[in-house]
Amino acid sequence: MPGVRGPSEYSQEPPRHPSLQINAKEPFNAEPPRSALNSSYITPVDLFYKRNHGPIPIVDDIERYRVSVCGLVENPKELSMAIIRKLPKYEVTATLQCAGNRRTAMSKTKTVKGVGWDVSAIGNATWGGAKLSDVLELVGIPKLTSVTSSGGKHVEFVSVDMCKEEKGGPYKASIPLNQATNPEADVLLAYEMNGEPLNRDHGYPLRGIVPGVIGARSVKWLDSINIIAEECQGFFMQKDYKMFPPTVDWDNINWSTRRPQMDFPVQSVICSFEDVDVVKQRKVSTILQ
Ligand code: MTE
Repeated sequence: MPGVRGPSEYSQEPPRHPSLQINAKEPFNAEPPRSALNSSYITPVDLFYKRNHGPIPIVDDIERYRVSVCGLVENPKELSMAIIRKLPKYEVTATLQCAGNRRTAMSKTKTVKGVGWDVSAIGNATWGGAKLSDVLELVGIPKLTSVTSSGGKHVEFVSVDMCKEEKGGPYKASIPLNQATNPEADVLLAYEMNGEPLNRDHGYPLRGIVPGVIGARSVKWLDSINIIAEECQGFFMQKDYKMFPPTVDWDNINWSTRRPQMDFPVQSVICSFEDVDVVKQRKVSTILQ
């Protein structure tokens, strides 16, 4: 795609906040201290967790940047940022959480593969951008307000970043078409985060935001949006981010027996202490006074 490229090495990464805990340096994966999660309702951008599978893409020329909308559509289009910005702008406050959040604790029970995360691979942001349902209307796909089901056509988001899991190809993921075309699902093509243009780490110039769904489906640095007959066959939909019962091990896993993970189980965590903090035990009589 003109205007934006995914480099193959890490020499041009953006600057990052020094208090982030780095869980992997290349690709860069980092989370804030727990206190960042409860010190404000909206997580500041520089303290928002960063989850990457390759080097951060570089936008050389925003005027030339286009996102193509193609696949099973009658009128495929290449959209500039100017066209996307002309559509009605929505601001959606949504939580983004990596499906790998709390892996470090899970691994204490049974080893989980992948980058280890403490509890802070989660954050709230106000995302600004166009609704995907409005964008899809531009290529002739009508809006729908139906209950989301995982079957049927999917909308695949393809990025420009190069991931080793995709054998050097781009990161990609998909969501059901009936979720994408439902304006009430608030799926965005976001160009702003907390009132500022997206920064490089979080997907500049344009990313998907899929509220209520694991962060892995909110694809950053969009290159194309494809309407496809069934869910995306990429690594991160078929060979990762799936949930299996405890009887399944790495040596007997059959990936095709589970659907890609979309939503999360409910969980909670105390953020006012770090794991290293020690709370003094007080005598019961003192507590009762
Ligand atoms: N999009 C691209 N292109 N490349 C990625 O590595 N990581 C995904 C998702 N979108 C990823 C991506 C994952 S696993 C998560 S949890 C979120 O982005 C993290 O978004 P953030 O870094 O803005 O917090």
